Amino acid sequence: MDIRINFDRILSELDTLAGFSDAEAPAVTRVVFTPTDLQARAWIKKLFEEAKLLVREDAVGNTFARWQGSQPNLPAVGTGSHIDAIPNAGRYDGTVGVLGGLEAIRALQEANFQPRRSVELLVFTSEEPTRFGIGCLGSRLLSGSLTAEAARALRDREGQSLEKVRAVAGFRGSLEEVPLSAGYYSAFVELHIEQGPILEREKIMLGIVSDIAAPAGMRIWVEGEGGHAGAVLMGQRRDALTAAAELVLAVESAALSTGVIDTVATTGVCDVFPGAVNSVPSRVRLEIDVRDVEEQRRNAVLELIQGAVERVRNKRGVAIRTELLNADPPARCSDAVVQVLTDACCAWGCSAIPMISRAYHDSLFMARIAPVSMLFIPCKNGVSHRPDEYAGPQDITNGVGVLARSLAQLASGERTIGC
Ligand code: GLV
Ligand code: MN
Ligand code: MN
Repeated sequence: MDIRINFDRILSELDTLAGFSDAEAPAVTRVVFTPTDLQARAWIKKLFEEAKLLVREDAVGNTFARWQGSQPNLPAVGTGSHIDAIPNAGRYDGTVGVLGGLEAIRALQEANFQPRRSVELLVFTSEEPTRFGIGCLGSRLLSGSLTAEAARALRDREGQSLEKVRAVAGFRGSLEEVPLSAGYYSAFVELHIEQGPILEREKIMLGIVSDIAAPAGMRIWVEGEGGHAGAVLMGQRRDALTAAAELVLAVESAALSTGVIDTVATTGVCDVFPGAVNSVPSRVRLEIDVRDVEEQRRNAVLELIQGAVERVRNKRGVAIRTELLNADPPARCSDAVVQVLTDACCAWGCSAIPMISRAYHDSLFMARIAPVSMLFIPCKNGVSHRPDEYAGPQDITNGVGVLARSLAQLASGERTIGC
C-alpha cells in the first residue's frame, strides 16, 4: 500500500488550530469549554465531516469521528488526543495526535485502504487540568475511572460546576452514558510530541511508549491573618504566603529526597489573597503536581508533603487544608500494540526506541479499557507547555506515516489484539 502523508495539509491545519487561542501568538491558550475551545471544536468537526467520518459527541464533549469498517460490529481501533491547551502553551501538545490521526485516516483513504474494523478518531475533553483541577477528564469518564457523581462535584475556579459549564457549552446528555464498554476498542494508539529531550538528543526518529508514569495532584489552602504591611510587626504575623513558601520548598525537597530522576514534583499555582503589596497575605492556594513511574515512591512523596503541612501548621500558627485531587496508578502499554508500532516503524524506515512517558496522557486511562501504546515524535530542545514548543515537519510526517501504517495493520485484523 502506498501511503502518502500530505504534510502541507497537516501543517496548515496545525497553523489554523493554533489561531484559536486566547493568548497572543506564538503562545496558545485554549481552555476547555471557553468560546475559543468551542470554535476550535466546530472547525475540527467540519474537517472530520469533510473526510466523510461519522461524528458523534458524548455528554462531556468527547468527540468521536468514525471511519466505518467493513465489519462495523467488531471492536474498533482508536486513535486521537486532545486540543485543549494550558495557559501560555505551544501549538503541538495534543493537536499532533488529533490532526495527525485525521491525516493518517485521510492518507489511508487516499491509498484506497479498506478497514475491516472501524477506525475511530477521538478528541478527548479537557486532557489539561486547567479548568477543573484534574487532567484527562474525558478519558477518565470514558474509561469509568471517574464516576459521573464525582464529575458532577467538579467546579472550576469561579465555582461553576462542570454540569453548568458543559450545559452552556451545549453538552446536555447524562454523564452516566459516557463510559465505554471494555471491548469497545481492540487497540488504541496516541500520537504525541515527546515533551522531553531524549529523541532529539539521541537522534532517534520515534519513541514507542511502554509505560506511562503515575500522576497525582493536590490543592493546599493556607489561612493566616492579614493586616497592614507597615503596622503589623514581624513578631505578630501569621503570614499565609511565607507559610506557603515553606510548603513550596518542602514539595521540592520531597521529590529530591528519593534520589531518583523519575520523581518530580511541581507547585505550579500560587494564588495569594488579597494580592496587594502593602497587605500581609491572609490566604494562599497552592496547586501541586507529583509524578513518578513507581506508584509507591510517588505516594511516599505525597506523605512527605503531608508531613510538611503538619510542621508548617504548628510552626507558623496558620490553618492548612489539603485536598488530594487525584493519585492515579501508572499504565503499562500492551506488548502486542508496541509490536505493531515497532513493525510499522521498520516498514516506514524510522529508527525507534522504547520510552517511558513521564507526562500523562489520555492513554493512561484508555489503557484501562483497551490495549494501548503511544508514538512519540521529537520536539525541539524537549520543550513543551511553552510557546516555543516545536516539532519539525519531517518528524510530524514520520509520526503520522507510522501511525497510518499501524492503524491499517490493527484495522485489517491481521493481528488480533484483545477481542
Ligand atoms: C499533560 O499535559 C501533563 O501535564 O502531563
Ligand atoms: Mn499538556
Ligand atoms: Mn498532551
